[in-house]
Amino acid sequence: MCGIVGYIGERCAAPILINGLKKLEYRGYDSAGVAVFDNGALKVVKCKGRLKCLEEKVANETLEGKVGIGHTRWATHGEPNDVNSHPHISNSGKIAVVHNGIIENYIKLKEFLQSKGYNFESDTDTEVVAHLVDYNYKGDLKEAVMSTISELEGSYALGVICSDCPDMFLAARKDSPLIVGLGRGENFIASDIPAILEHTRDIYILEDKEIAVLDKDNVKVFNIYGTEVKKEVFHVNWDVAAAEKSGYKHFMMKEMCEEPKVLKDTISPRIKDGKIVLDSINIEPEYLENINRIHIVACGTAYHAGVVGKYLIEKLARIPVEVDVASEFRYRDPLLSDKDLVIIISQSGETIDTLFALRESKRKGARVLSIVNVVGSSIARESDEVLYTWAGPEIAVASTKAYNTQLAVLYLIACDFAKKRGTIDDEQLERIIEQLKEMPSVVDKVLQNKEAIQKFSSEHYNAKSIFFIGRGLDYALSMEGSLKLKEISYIHSEAYAGGELKHGTIALIEKGTLVVCPMTQDDLLEKMISNIREVKARGAVVLAITQEKNKEVEKVADVVIKIPDVDPLVAPIAAITSMQLFAYYMAVQKGCDVDKPRNLAKSVTVE
Ligand code: AGP
Repeated sequence: MCGIVGYIGERCAAPILINGLKKLEYRGYDSAGVAVFDNGALKVVKCKGRLKCLEEKVANETLEGKVGIGHTRWATHGEPNDVNSHPHISNSGKIAVVHNGIIENYIKLKEFLQSKGYNFESDTDTEVVAHLVDYNYKGDLKEAVMSTISELEGSYALGVICSDCPDMFLAARKDSPLIVGLGRGENFIASDIPAILEHTRDIYILEDKEIAVLDKDNVKVFNIYGTEVKKEVFHVNWDVAAAEKSGYKHFMMKEMCEEPKVLKDTISPRIKDGKIVLDSINIEPEYLENINRIHIVACGTAYHAGVVGKYLIEKLARIPVEVDVASEFRYRDPLLSDKDLVIIISQSGETIDTLFALRESKRKGARVLSIVNVVGSSIARESDEVLYTWAGPEIAVASTKAYNTQLAVLYLIACDFAKKRGTIDDEQLERIIEQLKEMPSVVDKVLQNKEAIQKFSSEHYNAKSIFFIGRGLDYALSMEGSLKLKEISYIHSEAYAGGELKHGTIALIEKGTLVVCPMTQDDLLEKMISNIREVKARGAVVLAITQEKNKEVEKVADVVIKIPDVDPLVAPIAAITSMQLFAYYMAVQKGCDVDKPRNLAKSVTVE
């Protein structure tokens, strides 16, 4: 969602802001703008469209100021157009504001400000913040921002500059991410680390309702009561290349190709002397003995990983598991107690519905274990325990490597819980551990087979609608395969349990309809073969994904993509890579913007 960058220092702010915003493009946006304090006044340049348009507009201005804020907007209130783009400026021309989040009480505030004579130009909720800071400003910008945020309901990450204070600017946040970058003789704010990584690796992570006051040499952080807070410096240890394309055409391809490495990084440190060791968490056997239920809560791809997690935990550890979409869970008054464990899954660690589901769970006394990729993110910080997926920065909107590593962590959790509960024998556990260790090289082999998938895609990219069917773990995979395809190729797609299709949806199968069938589960193979016969009898073209050994699949499917012979239990980690590649090549063939699909944002920080 929206991206924020702010700069104060000795250098010209505008290019630094625009370069920073480029690094946040992955978040999704439809307009962009900057405000720079220049020759005694605030100058705002903004426009609908890509950053290229903003760059061209900025090139026609003389923007030499050394203090500024920039923004990429993902429209929520008001269509994407020049006027609704950020920054928003107060009627007095004194205050400029950029905002990520939603001000829920903006109508009430707008009416109040209108009654005080303020004129509104845009349809946005953000404009109230600019006018409210202006209204509250009595010569002290920090006081004005503090009063303003105490009146705001909803979520916000804010950057605020004021023409009366050319040597400082302010930032504040609640429920939307914002970091402060600490440089030498210059300081920054940003929605995410890549925006400032070329300038500094030392950051402060702002907590809810904290306000940062930045000048070029100092950053002071205050709580909502105005008391200064001592912040710890967080040192970013991943390198700039991790957030660059490094010669790949798309981040998505680069990230799929990184899967063997990140699987190794996620699995290897947690297997010591043939045993699973999750030493960053402390879930005791006694707790697991008395546990009532596990709830897995997440959104999108992370939710689909959760569906796999349910199969694994129930099968291996014999604990009942419910899987919920976070936006439903948080509003359905879930039954939770201190005997419930909530497993939260999130790549970004900032998805607002998932974050609020976490808070709801804690409020009701449940213990929260999160599986998170971004170190130091809100979800990681607020959970009782965290297991990181060591996937590194994931820039493409379509999640790939993060999903594989989420699965890896869920296998580790399921095995760990099973061992502690005595529901798995040593031999079975050893076999799964051995297979998990093999996964990086198995996925590498799947990636080497990408030409076959590319060829199939080049023959079918004009498909109007594609169905994914699977049984058991393959049904969970089908959901993710289908989501991946629709989000980047815009082809309509649905995922069904193999046995469910004939209860209605098979009516949509006609001559030439493409049906994708992951078939990795030995005990369900015959059933799936019957399901394939059913759709083929109605004219479907079938692409199957299965282990080398399953020769009988070749007799029914039109095309078979082979994955190495792995145990059915761990097969999802490998099979999903084929499905990610399929979605990728379909989207590329169609000429879609693979890394920045329309209407989507990488990190969904509004409800
Ligand atoms: C993934 O391809 C999606 N773009 C999306 O569904 C994503 O998984 C979802 O928004 C959850 O994000 P999170 O993992 O950062 O919480």
